Amino acid sequence: MNAPHASSPVWPHSAVTQVPYALYTDPAVYALEQERLFRGPTWNFLGLAEEVPNAGDFKTNLVGDTPVVLSRDVDGSLHAWVNRCAHRGALVCRELRGHSASGTHTCVYHQWAYDNRGQLVGVPFRKGLGGKGGYPADFDMAKHGLQRLRVECIESMVFATFDDQAEPLHDYLGPVMLANIRRVLGRPIEVLGTARQHMRGNWKLYAENTRDSYHGALLHLFYPTFGIYRPAQDSAAVMDQGHRFHNLFQIMTSGAGGDVSEYQNKGMRAMPAADSLADSRVIEFKDDYADGISLTIQSLFPNVVLQQIQNTLATRQIVTRGIADTEVVWTFFGYAGESAEMRAHRLRNINLVGPAGFISMEDGEAVEVVQQGLAGVEAGAASVLSMGGDSDADLDRLGMDENSIRGFWRGYRQFMQL
Ligand code: FES
Ligand SMILES: [Fe+2]
Repeated sequence: MNAPHASSPVWPHSAVTQVPYALYTDPAVYALEQERLFRGPTWNFLGLAEEVPNAGDFKTNLVGDTPVVLSRDVDGSLHAWVNRCAHRGALVCRELRGHSASGTHTCVYHQWAYDNRGQLVGVPFRKGLGGKGGYPADFDMAKHGLQRLRVECIESMVFATFDDQAEPLHDYLGPVMLANIRRVLGRPIEVLGTARQHMRGNWKLYAENTRDSYHGALLHLFYPTFGIYRPAQDSAAVMDQGHRFHNLFQIMTSGAGGDVSEYQNKGMRAMPAADSLADSRVIEFKDDYADGISLTIQSLFPNVVLQQIQNTLATRQIVTRGIADTEVVWTFFGYAGESAEMRAHRLRNINLVGPAGFISMEDGEAVEVVQQGLAGVEAGAASVLSMGGDSDADLDRLGMDENSIRGFWRGYRQFMQL
């Protein structure tokens, strides 16, 4: 990893222990991120392959701000192309998802038609009418297809990049990240549904939040109150091989002690009035992988999280919606062939997360209160990100450092050339 550049006016010093607040508020930074991150050599999550199971299926999405379509061709291959008509720029696919029985996607404006790979296959009145109008004789359909992205998959996760020179997805993720993806997705899955969580805050506040173990038991009182997250639990935070920008938290069911009273005796906030649940099945954990790991939050730079919280399984795509707006798209899944009882349990568990979940609602609020607090912030002001010094080492106990967030920023600076 290259050392951060120290000459940028946005980030004038090399430390990642002080993050300039302008990064969350400056539209020029947002524009640069679109160019250097989302249209640059990063791999961006587009969806799960099971969302487009059949030839002709498609899903519209965004890579950064850019509208993109993920589609499956007749030979089963997956393709991604910019959802912007090569004629005059209109959206070609306007539905969130769908199926084209004909295998073509036709722009509503002047009906240019594209195949599942984004190649132009039809232009109305191409030769004009009655010998008049039309396109010049040398108009080449092959040169007017939709802009294509490179697509690669790991298990069911489909990623795309705009950059032909980007390193292969497997190298980009590295062995530590691949191992957990295979752990969670190494068997057939079924998509259970999606939910969208809108946050009036910068996308990086959410990216930080998912790498922020410090807040886990402090913001989310539900965790310690009901013993999902206890101080003495075995836990770990690991980054990718270069200690860069991807991060994986794990919490094991093992670990001595750590009941609710232990947590409360430390004098921290808790939920004293809510010490029992009317239906405790919502927090039950069934060990899907027989490895005792009850929670993994895996953040893959720049825009997706793969999560297992108890038995809720989901991807969370972080979608930029402007300098101070973010949408998190949750796609929940279970395993094909699991019992009706297990499926019902998984659906019950989902009450923990998503926009109205007992836990994730608070992360959305955290993003918003930071963005609100940054209104009117003076130039040059920065956050304090020095818990754990300036280390980005892996940790075997969560909550006492901000190492993973600094890892995110080191990667961010590398890609942004800041
Ligand atoms: S803008 Fe799409 S066909 Fe004209
Ligand atoms: Fe959180």
